[in-house]
Amino acid sequence: MFDSGIGGLSVLKALRAELPQEDFVYVADSGYAPYGERDEAYVVARARAITRHLLLDEAQPIKALVIACNTATAAAIHLLRQQYPDLPIIGVEPALKPAIAASRTQCIGVLATRGTLASQKFKALLASLSDQATFICQPCDGLADAIERDDTSQIRALCACYIRATGQFSINSGEIDTLVLGCTHYPFARTQLQALLPSGVQIIDNGEPVARQTRRVLTEHANEDHVGQITLRSTGDPALLAQAASRWLGLQTSVEHISG
Ligand code: DGL
Repeated sequence: MFDSGIGGLSVLKALRAELPQEDFVYVADSGYAPYGERDEAYVVARARAITRHLLLDEAQPIKALVIACNTATAAAIHLLRQQYPDLPIIGVEPALKPAIAASRTQCIGVLATRGTLASQKFKALLASLSDQATFICQPCDGLADAIERDDTSQIRALCACYIRATGQFSINSGEIDTLVLGCTHYPFARTQLQALLPSGVQIIDNGEPVARQTRRVLTEHANEDHVGQITLRSTGDPALLAQAASRWLGLQTSVEHISG
């Protein structure tokens, strides 16, 4: 599995809970992050490079790939599936359908990267659901990067700015009662976001649905009676990933630096 950085750890957390018997190799592409404000060709090239790295590792051959990044899924999943037709590939996308099920006002805010919101894949998803709810989509430039750097004052300032820009939140009719976190970094700012929202407003991310989908895809290839091992690698500063894995997942695992 991979992400532009530490964000995909929010997906790894759900995957470990759902599939404790599976081994995971996590690559944080922190040397090339963030992805969200880059053009599509850049993100496709990074997704191809990391996938190649994972597939060439004979010591830990992968049986499936989770793209734990909304931006990379939107830009590259169809291309990777074309290139590797025999590899099961699971992606993440903003959890709009679960949000419709959770919302009473049917007015839903979506925070995501500029790249995700501009993608054809996201536009098609939005169009397919536009008769069921109103979606207010807010690009959050800089937020994934601030989370990556664990810059708490910047995280707080950007969360306040983007919540204000999204609109009026409340459980009253016509207002936004559900907020979708459409970037895997954003669950690590959940506390700051929740503090800015009136009570009753729900926050939805996609870690658990992705983990369930991965379990369904793996049914034929599942490990049994095995305690899953986690391998962490980074194209950037290994200390950043090690600290984030310890803080958010309680994992005390060394991180290997890899070249991109
Ligand atoms: N975590 C990624 C996502 O889900 C990308 C964040 C970034 O690199 O901008 O979109």
